Amino acid sequence: MRIIAGEARGTRLVSVPSGVRPTSDRVREAVFNALGQFFEGGEVLDLYAGTGALGIEALSRGFNGAKFVEKNGRAVRAVRENLERAGLSERGEVLRGDVEEVLERLLLEEQEFNLIFVDPPYKIAPKEIGGVLKRLAALLAPGGRVVVESGDPPPVQATESLKGESRRYGGTVVTFLERSEEHTMKLAICPGSFDPITVGHLDVIRRAASIYDHVVVAVGKNVKKGPKVSVEERARLIEKVTGPLENVSVEIIDGLLVEFARERGTRVVVKGLRAGSDFESEFQQAQLNRILYPEFETVFIMAAAEHSFLSSSAVREIASYGGDVRGLVPDEILDTVRHLYVNENGQAAASDRG
Ligand code: PNS
Repeated sequence: MRIIAGEARGTRLVSVPSGVRPTSDRVREAVFNALGQFFEGGEVLDLYAGTGALGIEALSRGFNGAKFVEKNGRAVRAVRENLERAGLSERGEVLRGDVEEVLERLLLEEQEFNLIFVDPPYKIAPKEIGGVLKRLAALLAPGGRVVVESGDPPPVQATESLKGESRRYGGTVVTFLERSEEHTMKLAICPGSFDPITVGHLDVIRRAASIYDHVVVAVGKNVKKGPKVSVEERARLIEKVTGPLENVSVEIIDGLLVEFARERGTRVVVKGLRAGSDFESEFQQAQLNRILYPEFETVFIMAAAEHSFLSSSAVREIASYGGDVRGLVPDEILDTVRHLYVNENGQAAASDRG
């Protein structure tokens, strides 16, 4: 085990006392990737500290101070030794004792922490963790995060005052929690080819934007159907019609949807679903995406009845003959769509679903 990044990068940590399950370097790296790489100050609380690797990693990456809570005497010595090896002894304090008792003390002292790690031995987790988490909300500074490590399934995913999401790293589950009132992980992605965007798409985007805090419309670059119009052009049309929607933005997606979602810290995509015809392909995509990213969720919004006949391919076909697509695409882009999709030699553009 080594410190991965920051001022103590590369420091080798002492071997683990028996009975302590250390957070693997891989999981520690994933946790810090999710939290943000480096920090400007702040206080860390490392509960069930073990070797202290999580708290020391946080100090190394810019936190001011850390308190390590541990009751096992050998582990306490390991934390002290590791702090010394990392040259961080002055910024770390080891509190020896039972976690719940130490928490009571910290609460009385009105201490606040910006980052709290909770990594109990898996077997004590179910009976103890609820009580521990209940106390943590009061110790969490505004904007702070609680990171709980556990087996699968996690014993607690949220309390009334803490809300969050879990991610799986091999057999380890890491749950990231924040104060309920600050929990704004309600970002959804509306992906599609949008070749071109129709009034049906816009209706689904609007409805998604009324449910979620923010919606990213993700325009596929290399979609299977071989789009007729460049991705930049398709994105421009969407930007124009979603302009008035304050919580909607438009991005281009040039890889896997699940990776795009992961990078933006969400696991939710919203798609519109028309009558039976869409189901087969949507079902397949949703299942495949869950193989790639098990926590991934596809949420379907039923297309409004008046749009159930409408498709991008129908718009392309009509426009390719110079036909009138008024009412099928938003008025603001009517002329551009006509211009982009009309087929000079009078032949219909490829007609498939979309
Ligand atoms: O069928 P649609 O709605 O036009 O789908 C377009 C899009 C962008 C959602 C889809 O092609 C996609 O997810 N592309 C990204 C590549 C990917 O993740 N493929 C695996 C999904 S099964």
